[in-house]
Amino acid sequence: MNVTKAVFPIAGLGTRFLPATKASAKEMLPVVDKPLIQYAVEEAYAAGVRHMIFVTGRTKRSVEDHFDTAYELETELELAGKAHLLKVARSIAPDDMVCTYVRQPRALGLGHAVLCAKSLVGNDPFAVLLADDLMVGKPPVMQQMVDQFLKWRASILAVQDVPREQTNRYGIVSGQSVADGLVDVTGLVEKPSPADAPSTLAVAGRYILTAGIFAELESLPRGVGGEIQLTDGISRLLRREKVFAYRYQGMRYDCGSKLGFLQATVDLGVTHAEVGADFMDWLNERV
Ligand code: G1P
Repeated sequence: MNVTKAVFPIAGLGTRFLPATKASAKEMLPVVDKPLIQYAVEEAYAAGVRHMIFVTGRTKRSVEDHFDTAYELETELELAGKAHLLKVARSIAPDDMVCTYVRQPRALGLGHAVLCAKSLVGNDPFAVLLADDLMVGKPPVMQQMVDQFLKWRASILAVQDVPREQTNRYGIVSGQSVADGLVDVTGLVEKPSPADAPSTLAVAGRYILTAGIFAELESLPRGVGGEIQLTDGISRLLRREKVFAYRYQGMRYDCGSKLGFLQATVDLGVTHAEVGADFMDWLNERV
């Protein structure tokens, strides 16, 4: 069975990016010319996912509008003969892509957000993409994960090594290496202090999960920060199913932080087809 559905938890308040996120969705912040959420959706689409499930909250209407048809805009562009821009506007939501929205009524954590998508996901394995983590890989990181899923038929977590002093920002995995870049996960803990962390292998914002996760999330007590943690749910899933951690090939930008966002803007700016060369010249003069 292939991975055809992806869940995008986007109800978070984005407080790390205030004041920009006071009245606007953090997922709509653009890196160069595309909002963060579009990078994540395109990554999922490129991996074969066609049903995008957004777990939204208040102030996130702009995400729904972004993936909807903009008749007025398209008509204006058509009349003005701006074929290229019309193509750009239409490419945001290809005809074979289905978008569904469900609300997370209260901010009870990432695990709770994923649980809100249960009835839409059903019994199929599904992807979870955190749009804050902008991933650049060739092939795209979600495609790499789908390839691993098709091989092992088990849940796959994207992981990367982080400096030990940063373990308290991530879900941290322990386990045994079983193949090139692949770890058979035996334990998972959310945001451990550097002293308590079982390793420095951190979960990045990409997951492929089996539907078994829902039963675990439903019975989960609140964890770190009083939230229902996805990490805790996966940790419980381990008692019944195999879970693998996969060291993805590529670059991750933490666009939930100002520094990561700026780094993504520079890296994607210098490779951008339209402005890349000029931006690079300007940077060279400045630095
Ligand atoms: C979430 C997860 C964490 C994961 C991280 C990746 O944390 O809870 O396990 O390592 O995303 O970005 P957040 O960044 O939402 O606090």
